[in-house]
Amino acid sequence: MGPEYMRTFIANMPKAELHLHIEGTLSPETILRLAQRNGVDFPYRSVEEIRQALAARPAGLEGFLDHHYLRIPLLQTERDFFDMTFDLLRSCKENNIVYTELFFDPQVHTSRGISFGDVIEGIDRGRRSGAEAFGVEANLIMCINRDRSVGSAFEMLDQARPHRRRIIGLGMDSYEEGHPPRKFEEVYSQAREEGYRLTAHCDVDQTDSVSHIWECLDLLNVERIDHGVNTIDDPDLVEEVKRRKIPLTTCPIWRSSDPAPQDTDRIKSLFDHGVLVTLNSDDPAEFDSGYLTNLIAGVQQASDYSKGDLVRLARNTFEASWLPLEAKNAYIEDLHAYAEANGVETT
Ligand code: ADE
Ligand code: ZN
Repeated sequence: MGPEYMRTFIANMPKAELHLHIEGTLSPETILRLAQRNGVDFPYRSVEEIRQALAARPAGLEGFLDHHYLRIPLLQTERDFFDMTFDLLRSCKENNIVYTELFFDPQVHTSRGISFGDVIEGIDRGRRSGAEAFGVEANLIMCINRDRSVGSAFEMLDQARPHRRRIIGLGMDSYEEGHPPRKFEEVYSQAREEGYRLTAHCDVDQTDSVSHIWECLDLLNVERIDHGVNTIDDPDLVEEVKRRKIPLTTCPIWRSSDPAPQDTDRIKSLFDHGVLVTLNSDDPAEFDSGYLTNLIAGVQQASDYSKGDLVRLARNTFEASWLPLEAKNAYIEDLHAYAEANGVETT
């Protein structure tokens, strides 16, 4: 099967996505519009300048985040959060994503004086209007910024309490170096008592990545790991992740300077070991991999996944979701109907 055939197969396949940061979806055009609307002095003045700055940023998590956070002051009002979420669900529709769980970072907004209420109201309204307009179902995961204090994370839980039913889970992201998962053990324990589903980022090739993943399992009791590619470095961890059926939301993104999608060999190896691997786009406006169809098409070429493998990966994502069992099974049935109509046997 040629690359164009596979791309079409991927494009038309009903998909889910579980690792997608709303704040990582501002296109250059949206950035310029928001800068004007809110009178924010963004350092880059044209689509071309924004693209060049993206291409020139240093490699790695810190280089990414330093650049990512420049965009945050553009978001000022409830309407901005609404527009961002509504636009994202339109992009999901264009990618045949039928279900998604979206990350948002309350602390980067509340620390600028924007109320938690405005943030969640805009995002949740965008989520509901987007579902109506595009038929894309979404749930929300709020992330602790792990480089901030434990007190600040508890404060976020307090602020979220009146909105508890609008938020399905708790995650953790931002700068990982020096901020191990154990720092937030008590916050996770409290969140579990409040009924949140739990996940956490363990970004790729950080200092102590493997022990961070163990801490997430043993101290935070997470149900998923975001990224988690370094699981492959420890055979006992591979076995434990399989035993506990912990999904990994991997993000084999690429930048313009990368020769290929990142980490594909390790991801394929985890997949071959039977780990519940899923493919996700992370911050699609900030990587050349973009949205999910394009990302999976690049990964398929790099790792030579068959159509059956691609269906398995898509099924993993529905299985790894926090949907009720019945809804999960309904999506998986639709996926299997698509697979069988395209000559892929399912069991
Ligand atoms: N914030 C947005 N995307 C992130 C990622 N992949 N890791 C850590 N923090 C993030
Ligand atoms: Zn992420």
